[in-house]
Amino acid sequence: MDIKSIVAQMTLEEKAALCSGKDFWRLETPERLGIPSVMVSDGPCGIRKQADKADHMGFNASVPATSYPTGSCMACSFDRDLFKVQGETLGHACQAEELSVLLGPAVNIKRSPLCGRNFEYLSEDPYLAGELSKKYIDGVQSQDIGVSIKHYAANSQEYHRMSNDSIVDERTLREIYLPAFEASVKESKPWTVMCSYNKINGTFAAENKYLLTDILRDEWGFDGYVVSDWGATTADRVKCLEAGMDLEMPGKNVANDKQLVEAVNSGKMDVAVLDTACERILDVVMRYVDKRRPDTVIDFEADHKFAQTIAEESMVLLKNDGILPLKKEQKVAFIGKFAEVPRFQGGGSSHVNAYKVTGALEAAADLNVTYAKGYETDTDQPDEALLNEAAETAKAADVAVLFVGITDALESEGFDRSTLAMPKNHEALVKAVTAVQPNTVVVGMCGGCITMPWINDVKGVLYAYLGGEAVGPATVNLLYGNVNPSGKIAETFPLQLEDNPSYLYYIGDEQDKTEYREGIFVGYRYYDKKKMNVLFPFGHGLSYTTFEYSNLKLDKTEMKDTDTLTVSVDVTNTGAVKGKEVVQLYVGMPESMTIRPDKELKGFEKVELEPGETKTVSFELSKRAFAYYKTDMADWYVESGEYEIIAAKSSRDIACTAAVKVESTTVLKPVYSMNSTMGEIMANPIGAQFIGQMMAQSPLGGGGDAAAAADSIGMGKAMMEMMKGMPLRTMIAFAGGMIPTEVINGLLAQLNA
Ligand code: BGC
Repeated sequence: MDIKSIVAQMTLEEKAALCSGKDFWRLETPERLGIPSVMVSDGPCGIRKQADKADHMGFNASVPATSYPTGSCMACSFDRDLFKVQGETLGHACQAEELSVLLGPAVNIKRSPLCGRNFEYLSEDPYLAGELSKKYIDGVQSQDIGVSIKHYAANSQEYHRMSNDSIVDERTLREIYLPAFEASVKESKPWTVMCSYNKINGTFAAENKYLLTDILRDEWGFDGYVVSDWGATTADRVKCLEAGMDLEMPGKNVANDKQLVEAVNSGKMDVAVLDTACERILDVVMRYVDKRRPDTVIDFEADHKFAQTIAEESMVLLKNDGILPLKKEQKVAFIGKFAEVPRFQGGGSSHVNAYKVTGALEAAADLNVTYAKGYETDTDQPDEALLNEAAETAKAADVAVLFVGITDALESEGFDRSTLAMPKNHEALVKAVTAVQPNTVVVGMCGGCITMPWINDVKGVLYAYLGGEAVGPATVNLLYGNVNPSGKIAETFPLQLEDNPSYLYYIGDEQDKTEYREGIFVGYRYYDKKKMNVLFPFGHGLSYTTFEYSNLKLDKTEMKDTDTLTVSVDVTNTGAVKGKEVVQLYVGMPESMTIRPDKELKGFEKVELEPGETKTVSFELSKRAFAYYKTDMADWYVESGEYEIIAAKSSRDIACTAAVKVESTTVLKPVYSMNSTMGEIMANPIGAQFIGQMMAQSPLGGGGDAAAAADSIGMGKAMMEMMKGMPLRTMIAFAGGMIPTEVINGLLAQLNA
């Protein structure tokens, strides 16, 4: 279909109408021209198709759908293939439900563990978030369904999410908050991008031409439509459209449509802007319409099983003092209401009407398991009778497994958590049970991380996160070793909230400005640099077997930044059972001249190994793996020098390292001025010669060598260091008129030539 000719046949009113929805979920297409209206739905970890009453907070019912583990859980799989298959499964279900676009993936960076929506987001690490996001997109879109990658951008808190202004410096934006979007847009071409509610550096995302057009389209080549988050369009619809925000949702904001019509009629806005937005929207609509398959059938049972597989691949064994896996013969007490009624998904727009939910107690029906409720979920107050019953049940068993975490009321879209602690009644339960049962395991059910003041009192911790509708069988399989845990946490668990780098500036000031003052030091980038102890480091996760790394090899030891480095490392399963290991590759530059994290994740692979088996895992590193964003160049830049290549089991468990020298192919041309320091001037051979001669003529002598001159008065190092930091103008002032202005101007001209 020729989209341009369709747009040419549309009236001005029809064009304006197309740029906002028909209702909460549908688009207002020109049906008289043969383009059917299409529907979009949330995402990301299941389908929330509201056939009747609509809302954006998950209050009203939606059609039954498979509830998969949430993003925070699934990211711990570090498994690209799993994301791809999940995407395919979701896309398939969208075909069945006649949805043109699925509103996900959600890839905002976990800046603070308090963010109420961290359960939906993937990681504190932009590379990991981007790699997984790309595969989800590939999967969904392979089914001829679009995605809407969200929420673009710097939307890392729920507090005042619709009004706050995220103040982020350019380098931080480029290195931390944009890369997951960038990689996804460049490599997986999402059909749509959802702009966030917040302002970024003073401009609402919906009006932000810099983000929506300059970066998204002009730099990254985005070719779909930008949709507003639901209600994110500002009062100035024209400004939004001109900035590149094509589709306003939800519809039908008649006043905003009118603004567009009037702007064209009055000549304030060129109709071409409106035409372009319409072409983008219709193009995406037709990508779906042309390939609709409404006869598609969802196999809910198969999807339920797949949800279980995802959970099994993702949940993380954080601690194990030899207590796990449990043995069938053991008498095990499951304690905590979450064992019976699991917390398996988060609240808000991602909330799915789960097809069926299987809890751990139900899944353990054939095992020697007893149960005590331990707490109620509608209160955080401990209940003495329930605690006593729990302690008795625990005492009478060989092992107690506590199902605790955070309740729905304390963690959801729309507001932030106020603490990392579990509710009082969950904490009290851990205390009561560990007091009587030394063999205690905790199963953590929470969208994000928690503090664990009791960590030394328990022998094992399996972190289930929000494990989706099949959380029960997955948990039981992992606890009993039917499946070997292989998840690794995609975020750092700090010892206390106050350790988090954003802690001092998390909630904005009275003007609703949230300053991202920790800059690029988010998550492990901060804890590493500060050499701080953490509860569990980024990338940590145990297995029922052990792995050894050896033979880290680089295919070269010197390279240009335009070359590709191939890295390989051997991984051996040294234990007694089959298992999977997530091999992590970090890159650092110990002697960098600029402020950088100690190391950053630049590669990962998940491998499965039989006992005794060795596999070689390979990675390719290209320019971006070594680069930082150089703001004055407005580009990525690789500093020449030695880089460390680190193969690791977690960000704090480094297995082997190797070094490579990288030479930059970018010639930096410094501009010299009176404010240039002597160090900068002497770094240039012409400058060094000049200063040497100057020193030689000075009473110090030194034969033309500045260092030798300084040495001659016994001040070598100190004097040179002092001089290096001195601007040229100050040097001249100190020379007391000895250096004529023409000579200085001549020097600067030569240096800048
Ligand atoms: C959320 C989006 C969601 C939309 C529609 C908004 O409140 O931020 O993630 O897709 O509602 O439900």
